[in-house]
Amino acid sequence: MDQQGKREVPFSTINTGRLGENERKSISRSPSPDTITTTVHVDDSPKVSPRASSPKQSVISELKENVSYNPHTQCRTKRCPNTNPLSPSKKENKPNVEQKHKRVAAKRPAPSPLKDERIVRFQGHDTRSCPWNFNLNLPQVQFQQGIDNSARSKTCYVCSKECIQLCDKLPKIPKRASMVHSLLEAYGLLDKMRVVPSRRASVHELMAFHTTDYVEYLQKINDEDDSEKVDETSQEYGMGYDCPSMPGVYDLVGAVAGATLQAAKCLLNGTATVAINWCGGWHHTRRDEAAGYVNDIMLGILKLTEKFNRIMYIDVDLHQGDGVEDAFSFTSKVMTVSLHKYAPGFFPSTGNSNDIGIGKGRYYSVNVPLYDGIQDEQYCDIFYRIVDEAKEFYKPEVIVFQCGVDTLSGDPMCSFNLTPHGIGKCLKTVLDWKLPTLIVGGGGYNIPNTARCWAYLTSIIVGQEIPSEIPEHEYFTEYGSDYQLEIEPSHRKNHNDGEYIESLLTTVSGNLQKINT
Ligand code: FE2
Repeated sequence: MDQQGKREVPFSTINTGRLGENERKSISRSPSPDTITTTVHVDDSPKVSPRASSPKQSVISELKENVSYNPHTQCRTKRCPNTNPLSPSKKENKPNVEQKHKRVAAKRPAPSPLKDERIVRFQGHDTRSCPWNFNLNLPQVQFQQGIDNSARSKTCYVCSKECIQLCDKLPKIPKRASMVHSLLEAYGLLDKMRVVPSRRASVHELMAFHTTDYVEYLQKINDEDDSEKVDETSQEYGMGYDCPSMPGVYDLVGAVAGATLQAAKCLLNGTATVAINWCGGWHHTRRDEAAGYVNDIMLGILKLTEKFNRIMYIDVDLHQGDGVEDAFSFTSKVMTVSLHKYAPGFFPSTGNSNDIGIGKGRYYSVNVPLYDGIQDEQYCDIFYRIVDEAKEFYKPEVIVFQCGVDTLSGDPMCSFNLTPHGIGKCLKTVLDWKLPTLIVGGGGYNIPNTARCWAYLTSIIVGQEIPSEIPEHEYFTEYGSDYQLEIEPSHRKNHNDGEYIESLLTTVSGNLQKINT
């Protein structure tokens, strides 16, 4: 951001946020959709909701008093020509792919209904060997799939047919929810978890974080089908442009929030040690400001405060978890740790290593800003050193893990260069703490790669090794041209040099050592 409050922002079709009113007025775009840049004038004036609601106790009171509003704009990056590092081989293999498609189409079974109305218990262990012999040479972390049997049998996977169908309609991630669920099913992973149906969150539950006005606004526009409509009210709540209204938006919000709340309940009542909602993970939304429509993570964390006193929120999405961090920046009852891309103009433009929280929350916000091109080994080393130290100082009772995978190689964000192996090692580090853990999704805009990664992470959670070959199922053809689970890193330059990383680790570690528990 320059001194005039302008910033050059690469434009993208990805939608996880919004533009402020004053930002929109000054947008200018170049003619080519692939090379569009946007000049954004930032409105730094705070916004205060006229009617805040508060059904909960101390943490919520602190939130109401201290929630802050950072001006932000949507992440925009030009469309990456290297969407999938495997793509160069597509043309070469085209004849074989077509033959495979025909063969698969002939063999493909009829789509099975979602199994959201039943509870499937652990039914044993598949002993097929995993072809992934991956070792990052990190002596601190033993790469082993899964956790012990008792924990494995206490993994809950929360979903509902309605939630998946509604998430499928999101214009920037069409059919992602169905592809993830179908791949889990095809790998037999649903049989290794308790599949717990979810219901919609009630108005009362949504207002545990969101304002009455915002919830009522969502209800009001639920049946409107004009996604292009942008009026004064919609701008006030952040709807339009990059975060457009859509038919059934309130239904979507209720379904996503309801699933994360159900996952939190599974941890609260002890029916799960790990609870998953891959449809959740919307970490940007404010109390009365859409940037992803709902902040299901906030609702889940607030639910967990009914039982747990120290909650650690870990966010590995490419974008900083600003909505969650802002809400808890004044309290020590929740520690937020975010590893993210930090670059001028990159949404949400917050999350410097010196952003450490305020007042009672000082040192309880941990930010790890990283540059483009980082790969598994370096990322895992940073993750382990920071998150493990944070855990030692904070001593959390429960973990909330936002697992956005727009960090993957081949994602249209075209920024980090990670693979499922690296993200899996990070998740395994957390699982090895053997604390109750709520896992939600997040970004991930190369949809087949997102499904690949979350299926692999699920296999780690339940301790089920899965084969490299994508099983034949409804969306099999989406995984061409290699039909493999693995994602290879690309040849992008890594801009994180050793000197920067050591300086970053020293800064973050120094802040953590000032925590008084
Ligand atoms: Fe993201």
